[in-house]
Amino acid sequence: MSAPIHNPLSDIKQKIVELKNQIEFHNYHYYVLDSPVISDEEYDRLFRELKKLEEEYPELITLDSPTQRVGGVPLEVFKKVRHKIPMHSLDNVFYEDEFEEFEKKICRFLNLPLGSSIEYVCELKFDGLAVNLTYENGIFTCGATRGDGIEGEEITQNLKTIKAIPMRINPFLNGTLSPLLKTIEIRGEVFMTKEELKRLNDERAKKGEPLFANTRNAAAGSLRQLDPKVTASRKLDIFCYALGYYNPISIGGIQFSTHFEFLTWLKESGFKINPYSRIVQNRQQVQEYWKEWVEKVKSLPYSADGVVIKVNDLKLQEKLGATTHAPRWAIAYKFPAEIKKSKVMGISVYVGRTGKLTPVAELEPVEIEGVTVSSASLHNQDQIKRLDVRVGDSVFVRRAGGVIPEVVAVLKDKRTGEEQEFRFPEICPLCETPVIHPEGEVDLYCPNEACQSRVERWIWHFCSRDAVNIEHIGPKLIQRLVEKSLIQDPLDLYFLTKEQILEIDRMGDKSAQNILDEVEKSKHVFLSRFLYGLGVRHVGKRVAELLSAHFSSLEEISSVELEKFQEIEGIGPEIAESVHHFFKSQIAKKILEKIKRANIELISQEKEAVVKSQFTGKTVVFTGELEFFTRHQAEKTVKELGGIPSSSVNRQTSFVVVGKDPGSKYEKAREFGVPILDEEQFLKIVKEAGVRIS
Ligand code: IVH
Repeated sequence: MSAPIHNPLSDIKQKIVELKNQIEFHNYHYYVLDSPVISDEEYDRLFRELKKLEEEYPELITLDSPTQRVGGVPLEVFKKVRHKIPMHSLDNVFYEDEFEEFEKKICRFLNLPLGSSIEYVCELKFDGLAVNLTYENGIFTCGATRGDGIEGEEITQNLKTIKAIPMRINPFLNGTLSPLLKTIEIRGEVFMTKEELKRLNDERAKKGEPLFANTRNAAAGSLRQLDPKVTASRKLDIFCYALGYYNPISIGGIQFSTHFEFLTWLKESGFKINPYSRIVQNRQQVQEYWKEWVEKVKSLPYSADGVVIKVNDLKLQEKLGATTHAPRWAIAYKFPAEIKKSKVMGISVYVGRTGKLTPVAELEPVEIEGVTVSSASLHNQDQIKRLDVRVGDSVFVRRAGGVIPEVVAVLKDKRTGEEQEFRFPEICPLCETPVIHPEGEVDLYCPNEACQSRVERWIWHFCSRDAVNIEHIGPKLIQRLVEKSLIQDPLDLYFLTKEQILEIDRMGDKSAQNILDEVEKSKHVFLSRFLYGLGVRHVGKRVAELLSAHFSSLEEISSVELEKFQEIEGIGPEIAESVHHFFKSQIAKKILEKIKRANIELISQEKEAVVKSQFTGKTVVFTGELEFFTRHQAEKTVKELGGIPSSSVNRQTSFVVVGKDPGSKYEKAREFGVPILDEEQFLKIVKEAGVRIS
């Protein structure tokens, strides 16, 4: 019989700390360094031991415990988080001379002689999802997606399931972490390996679930899961490559003078970095690195679509700064799109929202850039003629812009004589209405406004982000709702009942409620967005804004005569005709009636200005570089708030908004006693007014 073990709480605590450190040490070796030191069984034993102790002493569970990597209950929705500093994107170049141009710009900006040698770090450009990891007092507390660069979604729980992300900075290594360092943000790319994508897609195919088109979509889809257990079941990985916000200003005594030193620090602190990053001394060596990887990239287990080149010297980086969307010290040098051979098995025709018919080549499946491609756009009948593509032809295919595949050429010498020329249908393949060919246009159209394909795409457009922005409603659901005759136009969404939504297969009570909530939320919407969402031919975002600037309601728009539209600067005769035609149609009448019945509030610019703004009728001047807005966006936002953007400061100026490195306007504003706002305060007013930056 063994004597009872004396276990004061402090011993347990000590034991837990040891176990946590051991486990994270092994996570680091396994997931970051890819060289495990113990067997899986031993690791599992340590994990179980910790788990058992934590179950007995739940008060000793800490945020950074490895047991917290999978846990937590599924979320209802993702919380939005504003990035402390924006998450920039990168400018792209495709050719050597474009890179040379980028370097020249750097030289000019830094007043260096053109052709000076600049030291860079070359890295791969991983094709995943950018994330921001916040560590407070060394502990991983918040993880977010990039979102629009200003605001992302909080996905901490999901990121914790990625074992290559340390729960704590440097708990067991020799890297330096100053106790003074309160907050530090590390940025990187979460990705899925090609192998894991295959495994996941095989599994999904078996279950009859839609497949992910590529590793990036799969990584994004896996991270944006409300249930962290689903994320945990998909093997995701990360490469860290950038610093976000940090406090205090110098990383608590840690001094980096180059980007490469920072990367080394990342590695020493437990973060996973890519092993192929390299310092190069000049442009020629950049080219060598790029050339080397154009080929080698294909053999990597993950996707990369180019090289990122970063000025190594951090002082130079600081001097170069950033434009509103991208740093001046870095550039993405993309790899050429991969071109593969395939065979045209057939040509189908798709009908879009406006009725436009798009021919699509059905291909013998071929893998391009890690994605199986089985169809490619042929754009229009002119393109079919130009390529002279026939059913049965061998063709070259590429993924244009990395996503939509297209046929680039036909291998005519491979023809056997069996190939069949394609004739564009004379009737819509869906509703069988005779197609029309408007004069002067390349495209053919299905003129039937009730065509199912057109209706579905119309509703999908209405729900899209730039239109009314109704989340949780995707093309599949729309198709089912249309098929069941539950909706015939976008406005019918406002009359759906929960019972009707539940009629759709596999739709749970909670999902149905989410949809209803989203629809409800969208009932207060800007007139311009609503107009855009209506999908009237030739009415894109810009025209929708012009219309909403000139008319205060849909009623007004539908009652005015053609000339009124023609008088608006920026609206040509064709657009005017299209808008006028739409608003005189029966469909428009029905829509207006439904808007009233559904109690939808369309916010006109005028109304918006009166309701919301501290800026109504005020002149606002911007000076210095803004972080969150382009100058154009900032001025547009002022207008949306009823204000008048102006470029010069005088005693009558109402506000001056000051960004980074402000110019003389700032001095003038002080001199004249004009109220000064910083960008943060400006943003706050904008946010409070509920105006979206667009
Ligand atoms: S640095 C301020 N390095 O590319 C610059 N980005 O097109 C921050 N990306 O949003 C980015 N690999 O998601 C950097 N080695 C790398 C990268 C990389 C992939 C992504 C990142 C960024 C996007 C821009």
